[in-house]
Amino acid sequence: MAYEAKNFDSLLGTPGFGDQMLKNHFTLYQGYATNTNKLADALAAMAKEGKTGTPEYAELKRRFGWEFNGMRLHELYFGNMKKGGATLDGNSPLAKKISQEFGSVEDWEKDFRAVGAMRGIGWVVLYYDKAAGRLFNTWINEHDAGHLASATPVLVMDVFEHAYMLDYGLKRADYVSAFFSAVDWAAVMKRF
Ligand SMILES: [Fe+2]
Repeated sequence: MAYEAKNFDSLLGTPGFGDQMLKNHFTLYQGYATNTNKLADALAAMAKEGKTGTPEYAELKRRFGWEFNGMRLHELYFGNMKKGGATLDGNSPLAKKISQEFGSVEDWEKDFRAVGAMRGIGWVVLYYDKAAGRLFNTWINEHDAGHLASATPVLVMDVFEHAYMLDYGLKRADYVSAFFSAVDWAAVMKRF
């Protein structure tokens, strides 16, 4: 079954996120869904035609995770935002776990923001490693490098330049602050 881009128009009007910037971002996201389908179809066709030994097959295969994660990370990112945001319940299991792992929610946020200030394009993901019961603020380079196998992405923030440049120029930290105001902690707590 083909992937279909989800509609995130309910985010239009989110304070700190211009509609034009969001609309551009939705269009980019739709491109990842389209390309994930294209790659899946092309790879299946090549396999059927016996072309699995070709460089073309190998390069498309390498690219698949980039397109797929580009699609899914955007869904997680838009999915953990809400117009006006929603607060983190200090008594929730997630808040308690964050405090246990990072000392306090404030210390965790400081670290998450610091990862978001790293040079380069990519994502910041708060991952929950269920196997060990640990949380990690993780840098994902581009869309595909750095994921933690079998860990659950709990909070996802886009720090590709298209996520903020139109409204913020080079002031990435101001965008990160706007993002924190828009985080839908109810959605984040549910993932955890
Ligand atoms: Fe993006």
